[in-house]
Amino acid sequence: MGSFAKLARRALETDMPVMVQIQELVRGAKNAVSLAQGVVYWQPPKEALAKIKELVWEPSISRYGADEGIPELREALMKKLRKENNLVKSSVMVTAGANQAFVNLVLALCDVGDCVVMFAPYYFNAYMSFQMTGITNILVGPGNPKTLYPDADWLEKTLSETKPVPKVVTVVNPGNPTGTYIPEPLLKRISDLCRQAGSWLIVDNTYEYFMYDGLKHSCIEGDHIVNIFSFSKAYGMMGWRVGYIAYPSGVEGFATQLLKIQDNIPICASIISQYLALYSLEMGPEWVTERVKDLVKNREILLEALSPLGEGAVRGGEGAIYLWAKLPDKYVDDAEVIRWLAARHGVVVIPGGPCGRPGHMRISFGGLVEDDCRAAAERLRRGLEELVKNGMVA
Ligand SMILES: Cc1ncc(COP(=O)(O)O)c(C=O)c1O
Repeated sequence: MGSFAKLARRALETDMPVMVQIQELVRGAKNAVSLAQGVVYWQPPKEALAKIKELVWEPSISRYGADEGIPELREALMKKLRKENNLVKSSVMVTAGANQAFVNLVLALCDVGDCVVMFAPYYFNAYMSFQMTGITNILVGPGNPKTLYPDADWLEKTLSETKPVPKVVTVVNPGNPTGTYIPEPLLKRISDLCRQAGSWLIVDNTYEYFMYDGLKHSCIEGDHIVNIFSFSKAYGMMGWRVGYIAYPSGVEGFATQLLKIQDNIPICASIISQYLALYSLEMGPEWVTERVKDLVKNREILLEALSPLGEGAVRGGEGAIYLWAKLPDKYVDDAEVIRWLAARHGVVVIPGGPCGRPGHMRISFGGLVEDDCRAAAERLRRGLEELVKNGMVA
């Protein structure tokens, strides 16, 4: 290989995305079932799918659309943001999913060498987006050991002591990988700290509708806050790739910068997907919450399956589609445990290491219908019982 073939350091120095590794693990293990990927088991609304079936012959579907999203969808989203999220001073850009929204924002807000803040355990893709765009100083804050809420006292100290001040602070609400939600007073405090310090706050609301036990998700708005949303889980539209950014309308030049990035990556989100998003949105949030409420049963089944790990080992799960579990102390190398569970017990989960907390695992309760979830849980329970009693026997 000649020297011309050298790859970028930021590419070589980042790990393979954990989801790619996990997909390989699932393919490689015989008949493995997955509690790994952050997906839901339902499909988009039937009515919405039927409508777009008619649209495929329409010539405009096959052309490029407006970079920021088709006007009908943006208009519907502005209404939704006002009504459901209380975001009244935000503009909208439609992206090819929330992940692309996040990359757009990192490229628009951060320079190479900037410092940013996340809280562990963090969403692995957000971490990688920072790494891959040249940010070398990622400060990782702790969560409360019991609730896993981001530690705002740590943030206050960090934002006041770090020079130059961190450019971006990011949180996921409710969280991936923990399913922990951020109560509004805490979110406001984090926002106030960011505003006072001059840092941006990016809030990823991918799981806004996935709240349990009577808890309510809320958004906040400000000239230093950007909110990200996704159609993927809510409407079972993972493969259609539609998300959006709600950014402060009052910040001069923000839209222009976002457009530059958009025009160089997807140009526009897939047009047919945007129509599916529009027609799905017309079904109303009840269509989503109706499905989400059934996930409580899956969560219960999996909580029971995790019981061999002992009291206090499992946290989170009050939102999103995840439980977060601590492995017995000696299993810091969680990747090894995850491979063993896949090979010996035919069940796959996500290791905590790529989320910044080795010795843990993330279990998704969204991807399987109840009966399949029960079967997967049975494997997980047997695996964990064996792990705790006999170790990783071959
Ligand atoms: C917190 C969070 N943000 C973004 C994404 C990606 O969503 P999308 O499919 O809209 O890109 C996920 C998917 O798992 C997620 O958990």
